[in-house]
Amino acid sequence: MRILGIETSCDETSAAVVEETGDAAKPWTIRSNVIASQVQIHREWGGVVPELASRQHIRDICGVVERALTEARMTWEDLGALAVTQGPGLVGSLLVGVSFAKAAAAAAELPLVAVHHLAGHIESLVLQNGELPLPSVVLVVSGGHTSLYLIERPGSYHLLSRTRDDAAGEAYDKVAKLLGLPYPGGPVIDRLATIGNDRAVALPTTRLTHADRNAPQLKGDLDFSFSGLKTAVLRYVRSHTRPLSETEVADVAASFQRIVVTSLIEKLFDAARRYGANSVGISGGVSANSRLRAELQERGARREIPTFLPSLQLSTDNAAMIAAAGLRKFRAGVTASLDLNADAALSL
Ligand code: KG4
Ligand code: ZN
Repeated sequence: MRILGIETSCDETSAAVVEETGDAAKPWTIRSNVIASQVQIHREWGGVVPELASRQHIRDICGVVERALTEARMTWEDLGALAVTQGPGLVGSLLVGVSFAKAAAAAAELPLVAVHHLAGHIESLVLQNGELPLPSVVLVVSGGHTSLYLIERPGSYHLLSRTRDDAAGEAYDKVAKLLGLPYPGGPVIDRLATIGNDRAVALPTTRLTHADRNAPQLKGDLDFSFSGLKTAVLRYVRSHTRPLSETEVADVAASFQRIVVTSLIEKLFDAARRYGANSVGISGGVSANSRLRAELQERGARREIPTFLPSLQLSTDNAAMIAAAGLRKFRAGVTASLDLNADAALSL
């Protein structure tokens, strides 16, 4: 069975064909994964402009889907289902994918599967590595989310904690802007951090001990917070009456990255210990970060717990992960009807 996945939740238009292998340990294989990035368009504005994003999705979607089928050497007749990101994300962007998917499912008489974007990020780990040893604690860390999930059974995602304010990727993007660096900030700061001194600038870490009033069902001590860190960088920049030197910018980048990565890794391993996890994983755009990848593997080796990451291509937004999560849901017997609507604040 093969499924076509479609992802348009933010600023990447992506379509992919993923096939079942018949191997329970490594259930899926990627036949194609086409990604049209809008980064060049949004860079000029220093961040994603929702109206421009949805208009560009409309221009790109047909070509991207056609290329995904061509690269997989398939036609619509070779597909058994169609999966699409229903949310969360920018509603105008989501609507392009959802509308296209509904029309295509109706025309090609294919079952439709609605996928949560973060289920896609979590399943990118399985797509890359095969089924994870369960229970597993997975950190999804991107431009919109920083959340820990406990996975006790394949396809069940239990939220343990999340950020109280900015997502880690959002903090990267905002700090890059403060430093006069281009959007998206993550890859640029990551590169500069390798030449900076990560102890040069004193920046605060945030420790949360109490439950969040907005989410009393969560204990709260595994929650993340990055807005204080961002404000500290702003204060550092403002404390200079002249522009920062290249060395100073690299030092801020390295110091910021050390604090972010330490906080992500510590909470992930705290949660893993607390929930008796047999594996840990990190996925989402920020999982492309070089220091985060290195520290995860190092800590995993020390703690003797298997660690999992997606490839760099599967870290940032792509439709193969949506197709994989869609196959999981389809096999569990869950499909969507043709009155499916996009949901910008969909919960998992
Ligand atoms: O998952 P993603 O492509 O889109 C969302 O669902 O948000 O993640 C994009 C985020 C951006 O904030 C970007 O700055 C960040 O991932 N990112 C990185 C790196 N590459 C991308 N952050 C840190 N280090 C990186 N190497
Ligand atoms: Zn994402």
